[in-house]
Amino acid sequence: MTNPKNSLYFGDNLDVLREHIKDESVDLVYLDPPFNSAKDYNVLFASPKGEQSEAQIVAFKDSWHWGEQAEREYNEIVRSGNTYAAEMIQSLRRFLGENDMMAYLVMMANRFLDLHRVLKPTGSIYLHCDPTASHYLKIVMDCVFGKGNFRNEIIWRYRRWPAKAARFQRMHDVIFFYGKDQRENLFNTLLQLPTESSMKRWKGKKQKVEFDESGARLPTQELDEQSSGVAMDDVWDIPIIAPSSPERLGYPTQKPLALLERIISASSDEGDVILDPFCGCGTAVHAAQKLGRKWIGIDITHLAVTLIEKRLKDAFPGIAFDVHGTPKDLDGARDLAARDRDQFQWWACSLVNAQPYQGKKKGADGGVDGLIYFQDEVKTHKKIVVSVKGGENVNVAMIRDLAHVIDREKADIGLFVTLAEPTKNMMTEAVKEGYYTSPVTEKAFPKLQIITIAGLLDGSKRPEYPDLSQGAITFKKVKREEKTGKQKGLF
Ligand SMILES: C[S@@+](CC[C@H](N)C(=O)[O-])C[C@H]1O[C@@H](n2cnc3c(N)ncnc32)[C@H](O)[C@@H]1O
Repeated sequence: MTNPKNSLYFGDNLDVLREHIKDESVDLVYLDPPFNSAKDYNVLFASPKGEQSEAQIVAFKDSWHWGEQAEREYNEIVRSGNTYAAEMIQSLRRFLGENDMMAYLVMMANRFLDLHRVLKPTGSIYLHCDPTASHYLKIVMDCVFGKGNFRNEIIWRYRRWPAKAARFQRMHDVIFFYGKDQRENLFNTLLQLPTESSMKRWKGKKQKVEFDESGARLPTQELDEQSSGVAMDDVWDIPIIAPSSPERLGYPTQKPLALLERIISASSDEGDVILDPFCGCGTAVHAAQKLGRKWIGIDITHLAVTLIEKRLKDAFPGIAFDVHGTPKDLDGARDLAARDRDQFQWWACSLVNAQPYQGKKKGADGGVDGLIYFQDEVKTHKKIVVSVKGGENVNVAMIRDLAHVIDREKADIGLFVTLAEPTKNMMTEAVKEGYYTSPVTEKAFPKLQIITIAGLLDGSKRPEYPDLSQGAITFKKVKREEKTGKQKGLF
C-alpha cells in the first residue's frame, strides 16, 4: 500500500481501493458513478471542419444486470462485518428481487464499504446521483456511514435546453453529503450573496464580517445578520457545461469545475487528499490540483485516464503525477491485449496521440482504430488513419489492407501499430506505398509507417508527420490555469 500522492489509476475502483488505498488516508471523497440510467455514454471527439464527427465511441455503459458478479459482491457485503449494511442489502434484495436496480445497488454498497474504510475520521463523502436511484442509495449510505452523519442533500439545479415532456422536466441532480464522524467533521462555511429580499430585511443593520483566508466566514460570527454574504444554502444554481464552452472535453457526463471547486473548498483544506473513484474526464482531480489539494483518481477505461492525463498537462504545465495500471512494458501490453481488445486499442491510440475511432462497434470501423489530424498548411487539415494490432501474429495482407484504407479514407498517412514484430515482407510492402510530402517544407514522410509497441514504450519510435497545430486539432486543448491554491471568497 502506498501513501496517497497525486495518482491516477486505471482499473475497477473496488480492486484499486483494496490493493492501494490505506485505511483512514483520505480527507474527501467525491463520487459521480453511473446513475443506472440504462444508457450508453458516447465520447464525442472534436473533429475539424469538413470532417463528420465520426470518432464517436461508447465510453462506458450504464446498465447493470443481476448475475455472477452481483451475487459475489452481494455475499461480500453480507460478510463484511457491517451488520447494518448486511441487513439492509438483504432487505433490499427481498423487496426489489434480483434485477438491474438490485445489481446496481450491490455494486455501489460494496464500494461504499471501502470508501468508508479509507476516509479519515474528519473526512467527508459527497455522492452525486439522480432521482433514478437516490432514494435507495441514501438508505444504503445511512447504513454504511451512519444516519447521524448525514449532513445535507444538495440539489444541483442546472438549466438546459427544454425538451418536450409528458411530465415536469428534470433539471436537477442530487448530492448526498455525509461526514465520517459528526464530532470531528471538517467544514469551511462558504458564503453566497444574500437574496434581494433578505438585503431589504437587513437594511440598516450594518455589522463587521470576518472571513478566513479561504474566503470562508469565521465560525464565531452570526451568519444571518450580515450584509456581505450569507452561509450558503443547499440548492446550487450552477450552469451545466454548454456545448460551445471551452471547458467541454467531449466526455459524457462531464461535471462543471465550479461544482467541484465548491465541494472541495467546503470540505477540505490545502494539502488534504481528495479521492474520486469514478473520475471520468477528471473534473474533481482538476479542481483539487487547482485548489492546492492532493488527489487520487480512478477510472475503469483507458479513454478516461488518457483524457485526464492530457487535461492536467494542458491546465498545469510541468505537473507531476503517477499513472498506475496502464502497461509499462511489453508483458503488460500483452496482458492487456489478451484481456480486453478495446482497452488495448484505446491505450495503443493514446501512445501515438490518436483519437480512438468507433472502437466499440464490431466490424463498423473497416480497419480504422484511431485518427490523428495534423496541419502543415494554413487553413487546412490532413488525416492519419491508425490501425492497431494486438495479436501474436501479423502478416503482409494486413499492410495491403491498410494501404486500401488510406485510399478509401482519403488519408495522407497510415500508421500500423503492432504488438508483434513485423516481418521483412511487411516492411517491404510498406515502403512500396511511397511518401507524403509536405507542400510547405517539401519534407517527405513515409506514407505507411509500421511502429511496434516496444518501440513506442522505449521511446525509440514515434509517428513521423509535420504538425503546426501540435496536436490541438486531434484533441481539444484545455485552458491553462493561472495559479493554484486559492479559492474565491464568495461563490
Ligand atoms: C458519470 S462518469 C464520471 C464523470 C466525472 N465526474 C467527470 O466530471 O468527468 C462515471 C465514470 O465512472 C467510470 N466507472 C464505472 N464503473 C467503474 C468502476 N467499477 N471503477 C472505476 N471507474 C468506473 C466510467 O468509466 C465513467 O468514466
